[in-house]
Amino acid sequence: MKHITVLTGAGISAESGISTFRDSNGLWENHEVMDVASPEGWRKDSDLVLNFYNQRRRQLKEVFPNKGHMALVELEKKYKVHVVTQNVDNLHEQAGSSHIVHLHGELNKVRSTLDPSLVYDWTEDLNKGDFCDKGSQLRPHIVWFGEEVPLLEEAAHLTAKAEVVIIIGTSMNVYPAASLVAYAKPEAKIFYIDPNPNISYELAGLKNLEIIKEKGSVGVPRIVADLLS
Ligand code: OAD
Repeated sequence: MKHITVLTGAGISAESGISTFRDSNGLWENHEVMDVASPEGWRKDSDLVLNFYNQRRRQLKEVFPNKGHMALVELEKKYKVHVVTQNVDNLHEQAGSSHIVHLHGELNKVRSTLDPSLVYDWTEDLNKGDFCDKGSQLRPHIVWFGEEVPLLEEAAHLTAKAEVVIIIGTSMNVYPAASLVAYAKPEAKIFYIDPNPNISYELAGLKNLEIIKEKGSVGVPRIVADLLS
């Protein structure tokens, strides 16, 4: 079975009602990104940060996968598919994708501030006084700016072994995620589906790149149908 690795960003969830980042002037749901997605923000005002992610986590109960997420599941009929997502939502899981790597963490998980290996499933609000098994405060399981990306190596490995790489709904602005495509085999076919694609440094030199300037709900089912036919 051929391998397909799919690299998704905020754009694939846009049509499910979750805002993207760079279409909102760098604000994340009206917050400065660094206030809610950095260790400094957490130190400065952890109540704000907890409340912010509590709202995002609550939103997950009201959103559903769209045709883009659903089409990727179909690909598994014929290919070994891995989804590497920058998104912290659970829409690929809801759609039914089998192999998902969350490069930037997950809203439905929390972890210890003392021991990062203590990670817990968490679908309700997280509050001050919610402690890990070692007695320290829990925090959102999100990769904040300036923090290590623990799953980067796995994501690079998955990209390197794919015959086809499909990039969907990402501005290719945030590193190291944007650099993953550089690990693709020179002969790999690369699709980039985005209504407003950004031809980054990594994409510029690729000769097997096909850009599909469409929304995920249109472009993803079309490419999936082609790959299945
Ligand atoms: P961005 O907000 O930077 O980019 C969203 C992309 O989605 C843009 O290229 C849009 O053109 C595209 N887009 C918009 N509507 C779309 C649709 N209907 N279908 C397909 N594409 C659409 O989001 P990311 O590239 O994912 O990090 O941002 C990367 C990271 O920056 C995020 O993971 C987040 C943020 O800060 C963390 O939270 C750590």
